[in-house]
Amino acid sequence: MENELVAEVVLSGALPEGPEGEALVRPIAEEAVAQVLGAKSEGAVSQLVVRGERIAITLTSTGARPHQALLSFVKRLQDRLGRSHRVGIRSLRALHYTVRFPLDPVPAQPIGLPIPHEIWYEGTTAVLTLSELDEEALRDNWIDRAVALVEEKARRQAYQGKEQYWALLKPAVVRPGSFREDPTEAMIRRGWVRNGPTKGKWFLGPRAAHVLRAMERLARREVLEPLGFSEVVQPHHDSFDILLRTGHLAGLPGEFYYVAEPRTRDPGAWERFTDLVKITRQVPTEELAKLVGPPSAVSCYAQCPTVYWWLSGRTIAEGSLPLKVYDRTAISNRYESGGRHGLERVDEFHRIEPVYLGTPEQLLALREELLARYTQVFDNVLELEWRTAWVTPFYLQQSGGVGVEDATERIQGTIDFEAYLPYRGSREESEWLEFQNLSIVGDKYTKAFTIRPQKGLLWSGCSGIGLERWTTAFLAQKGLDPEGWPSRFREIAGPPPPDPTFL
Ligand code: SER
Ligand code: ZN
Repeated sequence: MENELVAEVVLSGALPEGPEGEALVRPIAEEAVAQVLGAKSEGAVSQLVVRGERIAITLTSTGARPHQALLSFVKRLQDRLGRSHRVGIRSLRALHYTVRFPLDPVPAQPIGLPIPHEIWYEGTTAVLTLSELDEEALRDNWIDRAVALVEEKARRQAYQGKEQYWALLKPAVVRPGSFREDPTEAMIRRGWVRNGPTKGKWFLGPRAAHVLRAMERLARREVLEPLGFSEVVQPHHDSFDILLRTGHLAGLPGEFYYVAEPRTRDPGAWERFTDLVKITRQVPTEELAKLVGPPSAVSCYAQCPTVYWWLSGRTIAEGSLPLKVYDRTAISNRYESGGRHGLERVDEFHRIEPVYLGTPEQLLALREELLARYTQVFDNVLELEWRTAWVTPFYLQQSGGVGVEDATERIQGTIDFEAYLPYRGSREESEWLEFQNLSIVGDKYTKAFTIRPQKGLLWSGCSGIGLERWTTAFLAQKGLDPEGWPSRFREIAGPPPPDPTFL
């Protein structure tokens, strides 16, 4: 026996006590077990006691979980007893639900769950008991989610301290340069940028904005437009529902900027707040907290989730595949906390995110085309020293997953593009900057958002073109003086605008 479910059903009226009541109920329970669990899973009604309005029942099984049989039993009970004894179901709950499953290696640290439970180990078998599950928790299959969570936590413990997966794909061509400064520091000194009015954000003056927008034009002209990508314009706020479906909400709740709405826009309700502002010239934060609701959405973290939302529930005609779109409207916000550094690690950044959907073959071909176009831009227009690596896929990282998918086949997963930043030290020892990525995510998001092809398989993928990252990688290697910039980039950028002179 791997699963044992001890449950109690409360009826709206009493049944005959003892053997008579049991004779009434047992065949119904056995029928449900046989039909739902089938012969293979060796399901059984191992205990059944009828006492007045209460039925105590224990179901066991191997393989398939017995709660589906319990739910079916209760439904049948309702149908039959409702007719014959005028008795209905008042409530249903599991007192204890125990499952055994292999867990190797057994976690060294205790594993906790946020619901009543006990967990212990017999060799490499974990024995998990959840207590007090109501009908909704049973219907909603909390038991399997709890098992998955224990497995995930055990995996995470095993991975703790291990590096993220990283394997070099294409090595860099060395490009000697003379610029050695931190580009953000250099831009601050020349007044190109100013550290923003709120955390981790930057104000880009005309010169810096000119470079950033040149990068954007470059990506659109040399990569996206020739490959037939069309622009879409998406909202800035991601709903919780979207991030539940992608796994972001479970994976990174500490990295979002949350969006909250005012409870009302009635000026009368805000009067005390505005009066306090007028008198104190400060923000009455306690008063504000009362007037603003709990967070109801998230400021854009990545753009692809909302593109998938756009397509959710739709069937895409074969002629529209591969579907290639990009968004450059939503601005990404990430709570970076300790990780902030200059313009290369910020809480708010501008990114073009191409998203593509198609058959696996179409996406693999498109990845080659994108790689060729990116290579052309980084080698011949920006003349960067850059390399690529196969890394832990972004969707595993961002959904709190661990390990690496497809490390050897290299079909589904993420390629990072990294640039050498001379100011950080030697090529060998310093950390290079991830300035771009390119992923194929398989059917993870097409499934999560129920996006269907007319026939066959539908996969998707995305690529993050981080404009601040392109800008820093470029300026870190080429410096701030346009005279030192490659001629093809200067053509695309055009003449730099004057920065205001401050006295
Ligand atoms: N969605 C991908 C990421 O967040 C590409 O930008 O890394
Ligand atoms: Zn994406």
